[in-house]
Formats: sequence, C-alpha cells, structure tokens
Amino acid sequence: MCGIVGYVGPQQAAPVLVEGLTRLEYRGYDSAGVAVLNPRSSAHPSRVVRAQGRVRDLEAALPARLAGTTGIGHTRWATHGEPSERNAHPHTSYDGRVHVVHNGIIDNFALLRSRLTEEGVELTSETDTEVIAHLVARELSAGLTLEDAVRAAVGQIVGTYALAVLDAQAPERVVVARNGSPLLIGVGDGEMFVASDPAAIVRHTSQVVLLDDGDFASVTADGFHSFTDGEAKTARAAVTLDLTVEELELGGHDHFMHKEIHEQPESVERMLTGRLDDRFGTAKLAGLNLEPRHLRRFERVKVLGCGSAYYVGQLGASMIEDLARIPADAEPASEFRYRNPIIEPSTLYVVVSQSGETADTLFAVREVQRKGGTVVGLVNAVGSSIAREVDGGIYLHAGPEVAVASTKALTHMSIGFALLALNLGRVHDLSFADGQRIIAGLRAIPGQIAEILAGEESLAAAARELATAPSLFFIGRVRGYPVAREGAQKFKEITYRHAEAYPTSELKHGPLALISPELPSVAIIPDDDLVERNITAAQEIRARGGSVVAITHPGVDLGDAATQRIEVPRNEVELDPILLTIPTQLLGYHAAVALGEDVDRPRNLAKSVTVE
Ligand code: G6P
Repeated sequence: MCGIVGYVGPQQAAPVLVEGLTRLEYRGYDSAGVAVLNPRSSAHPSRVVRAQGRVRDLEAALPARLAGTTGIGHTRWATHGEPSERNAHPHTSYDGRVHVVHNGIIDNFALLRSRLTEEGVELTSETDTEVIAHLVARELSAGLTLEDAVRAAVGQIVGTYALAVLDAQAPERVVVARNGSPLLIGVGDGEMFVASDPAAIVRHTSQVVLLDDGDFASVTADGFHSFTDGEAKTARAAVTLDLTVEELELGGHDHFMHKEIHEQPESVERMLTGRLDDRFGTAKLAGLNLEPRHLRRFERVKVLGCGSAYYVGQLGASMIEDLARIPADAEPASEFRYRNPIIEPSTLYVVVSQSGETADTLFAVREVQRKGGTVVGLVNAVGSSIAREVDGGIYLHAGPEVAVASTKALTHMSIGFALLALNLGRVHDLSFADGQRIIAGLRAIPGQIAEILAGEESLAAAARELATAPSLFFIGRVRGYPVAREGAQKFKEITYRHAEAYPTSELKHGPLALISPELPSVAIIPDDDLVERNITAAQEIRARGGSVVAITHPGVDLGDAATQRIEVPRNEVELDPILLTIPTQLLGYHAAVALGEDVDRPRNLAKSVTVE
C-alpha cells in the first residue's frame, strides 16, 4: 500500500526521502513524490516534485539541487483517482503553504470537496487527500499553529489516515497524525524521521516510536512531542527495531521473492528455536496469554485472514481439527467483518497476517473484541497494529518480506498453526507420543525445505512449460486443497495467467469439461489415504488430453497419470501440506521469470492492503 517517509535534521532531505521511498516501493508504486522546505530561499521556500511510475522516475524528475533539510515523501497505490502526476502526493494547499502526504481513505471527502469548491478553492486532483491540505491551510490562515491546524483539520475528516504535514512558514517541523494507518517516528542523533514502515528509515536509526490511533506528533530535528485530540500530551517511548539493512538487500538474488524462498530453511529453524517442548510433547507459546486450562475451554476455532493468509488459515484449521479434534474453519476476514458475525465466547478466534496492518483483518479483530470474543494473532510484523490489538499471539519471526507475493511468511504462518494445533491438541486428547511425533516432524522441516530447493532446476523447467499455457488448474483434496489454492494464487498474481484451484474430488462435477491439451493441471498427490483416488482423477485428466504436473511423495506409483513428477520429502501427514506448498512457490516464480514479468512488483497489487 502507500508509503510515507519524512525527515527533519541537518542533512539534505531529498536524498534521504528518495532512499526511504525506494525501500517502501514494494508497498505501492504507481506514483511518487517529495516536498522539501528550504528556509534560506525566500523565492522557493518549498518545492514539490512528483512523478507517475516508480521511485526511479521520481528520481529522474528531481532537479540537480533540491535544497532543503525538512521534507516529506510518498509512494502511492491509487485508491481515489487514476495513477498520474497530479494525483501523486504530496498535495499542496490553495495558497501553496501546506504540503500533505497521506495513507488511508477519507470517507467524507466528497462532502469536503464540494464545501471547499463552494468557498472558491480550486481542487487540482481527484484524490481524497488534497482536501486535507486545504483544510490545514484554512486553519493556519486563521492564526493557528501547525499543530493546532492539523488537529482542527483532522477533526473535520472521517476515515483512516496516517498524515505528514509541512508548513512552508514553519520549515523546522513535520506534524503527523495517525488513525487506522501505521505511522512511526525514527529517533536519530540530532535528526528525526517519520515513516509508515520501518524499512524506510532502518539505514538511519533503529530507535522508533510507534504511534497509536488518535496520536498526533510534532517532530523537529532534536525531538518530538506527541499529543492527542484532547490536547493531552502523551508519553510514547522508543523501542529498538529488529531489522537490519542487509535484510532489505537482494544479497545476490535476482529478486526478493527468490531470496525469500531460499531463506526458508534458516528462518524456519530460527522460528522453532525455543518453542518445542520435548518434556511435555507440546509447543511453548507464552505469547498466547492463555493458560492450558483456559485453552481447554474453547470448543471451536475460527481462523480469519485475507488473500494467501486466508488460504494458510484453511490449512491451519485442518491442522487444528486433526491434532486437537475440535471443529475449526477459516473465513476471509474481509467477508467476516461485514456480515454481522455471531461471536461465541467458547470460540477461539485466530487472525493471521504477515504485515499486521491489513485493514480487513484488523477490523475483524475489533469486531470480535467488541462482541466479547477472544482473539489471538499469528503475525509477522512486530509491533504492528494487529499484533498490538490482539489478546495474545504467536510472532512468526520470518524477518522482513519485501516481495509482494508472499512465500516465507506463509510457510511461517503454517508452522505457527502447527504449533498452535499442537498446543491445543495437548490440552485436549492428543497423546504425548503424538505430540512428540509432531515435534520431530517440525524439526525435520528446515532440512526438508532445503532438499526441495535443491531440486530447483527441474522445477524451473516444469514452470517454463506451464508458463506457455494461457490457463491452468491447481487441484488437491482435503489437506491438499489449500495447497492448490495458494499455488494458483501465487501463479496468477505474478504471471497474470489464469490459474484456478479446484478440489480434485469436484473435477468430475464440472471443470473436467474444460480439460484439453491447452489446459495443464498441477495436481497435489500426497501419499495419504486418498492417494489412489487422486491418481484416478489425474488419469481422467490425462485421458482427455490434459497434462499433469504431480507434486507427490517418493514411492507413489503414478503410472501414466502424470506428465511430470515433482517429489517432496515425506513428513507427518498433518504437516505434509507445509512442504507440498514449497514447489508451488518455485513454479510461480520461474513461470513469471520465463514470461519476463516484474516478479517482485506485480501490477495492481500491494504488499499489505491498509484500506478497506
Ligand atoms: C494483500 C497481499 C496478499 C496478502 C494479503 C494479506 O492482498 O497482496 O499477498 O496475502 O494482503 O496480507 P497480510 O499482511 O495480512 O498477510
């Protein structure tokens, strides 16, 4: 989604802003812009440069000297108004005095626009953001300070926002406000930063202050003060970021997606450290904030997430049913929050999110809490909104994920679910021996992922073949179905080829009509009690001229049911889907590379969707 960066200090602001924006590009990237203030130039106290396209297009548009030591920048992912230079942020007020960057959505912007138009203000963009610049300017012209003007303007808007505001007549400060969109302040030595994502400022400081909804802050080179609507000052302390610059570099890989796929053996190993309890055959999950006797009281589990996180949630629900034998299901958080769901005190709600900022998932958390339910989170981004609002949770410790198409964070989610299922199982009927069996299976996963990745070349060859098809099926049944869903999702989001997931069992009830030599299938065929049925379904496809790439286990006799065979090592049957997913990551990746697509930045998609 959109990204914000801001700077106040002794350095020239423009290079700091551009570097920060480059690191935020993965969040949204149809246009970008910066505004800098230069108190020494009376002719040009403020300059704004904006460009459609990438941050590198903005860089090319910057004048050689863009002097100024206070500034704000933005990368945009269009919501209101097409991607274009005039819709790019920063937006400027009618009098040229105020510059604003904004993440989020202003719900009452149409009303505010028409009011401003009636007052004679000429609006120059189609965005919802522009109204904020005019509102702040109007308050400033009535004699308010920038802090008070921002507060007064925010009082008139309804919606979600992370805002950074400049006043050309107060060039030593940036005023920020947060409601529903992430925002943090970076504390440097004699300089301060503002960002929507720590990635933007990690090169400069590891000390950050996470703002809460309802917070405002006035940021100058030597510090900041935060306050709220009611004027009360708030004390927000700095925390240390768990993020390094190296983690945000490609490190010899062509794409972040490739790097992140290959990080998995090590990152999973790290995630499991200290979490497996051999003595009791369970998982240690102190962050859940739930004692075993409380956990036991839950009679049902509802998993909520969006996109790929929802598909992993399906996998998680089946692990919970398998290991804890309590009913569990998954639902898209985006649907759940809008359907007036019945919240049961005996249900454990589990939200799952890489970014911890997905608006639909965050609102689902609030819906559950408002109605008295207990909600825990499986979240990757430490200190994110969801992580802070849930009643407890499991941090995924996947490290930063930059590629829009998620891979390692999803693997960590599924392992997080395995830990949760194990924990729930052991307070229900899962035996100590079975607990130990799952622990041994989990310990084997890092090495087994490495084994799968060692077969990358043959996966790449299969992917190149699949890339030639205009459309394809991903099929699997029961535990294999979420694997197929995620495989299809990954494939379509980065190759732009139509890929549809279907339960293998349902093929004969309709989609078989589509099978032809032009429509290949990727079939998930683990060596479980459904193996024979899955092979029969693959044969039915072959009999109708379709080709089948089978992702299967060693020893499974596919006969002529598959045109291509991809093997993954066998683990415990409950954990097998985690490993069966790994080849689908490489299939999507190599197909997109073969097609020459921009793997890390698929069109129209954002890494985390912080608007509704
Ligand atoms: C967006 C992304 C998806 C992601 C989903 C949930 O739609 O494009 O890749 O799965 O959000 O993101 P989250 O950060 O909550 O896991």
